[in-house]
Amino acid sequence: MDGSEPLDTRPLNAELHSTEPGTATSNNAAEEAAALEAVANHHGSMLKRLDALVSALTQAVKTGNPVAEHDAQGVLLEWCETELLPHASAEEGPLYSGAGREPEGRLLVEALLAEHQAFVRLIEELRGASGVDAAVTAGAVRNVFALHLDTENRILLPLIVAAPGLSLVQAVEGLSELVGEAHVHRTRSGHGG
Ligand SMILES: [Fe+2]
Ligand SMILES: [Fe+2]
Repeated sequence: MDGSEPLDTRPLNAELHSTEPGTATSNNAAEEAAALEAVANHHGSMLKRLDALVSALTQAVKTGNPVAEHDAQGVLLEWCETELLPHASAEEGPLYSGAGREPEGRLLVEALLAEHQAFVRLIEELRGASGVDAAVTAGAVRNVFALHLDTENRILLPLIVAAPGLSLVQAVEGLSELVGEAHVHRTRSGHGG
């Protein structure tokens, strides 16, 4: 029962979901695995950057340096606006909607969407905070984000890869907000590289 795949409900309903040949479903396991890795890697670099920005703010607050604090808070807020929130919005497209149509993904996607809303609230709170309050709120953004990414990497993405009617490649291709600079695309006939 406890195989290496975190979620595998395929044996029960795989035949009901069988797809016609010629549908857009990607059956290429290697491409799907590469897409999962690309999203997980992008998550990893986002978290690394967020860690650094939150640490800078916390450090400035600890050392009582208002100029450094103001700067660090500004950079963090800008990153949240230009990286974190666009990432969340991009996910709410094909990635979440596909998983949300799967019986085993519906509640998961609802919970992930609630966390996206939590980011919006925390970022708004961070904007109006200063000193220790700002550092605490920044730490909350960081910790919620880390848990959120972990759920996406370990549950959501494998669920999409395993679902016979879904393609992770298709859900993320062309979206740099989700895969960074990695090139995720379906290999089509006669189209190399
Ligand atoms: Fe997300
Ligand atoms: Fe994400």
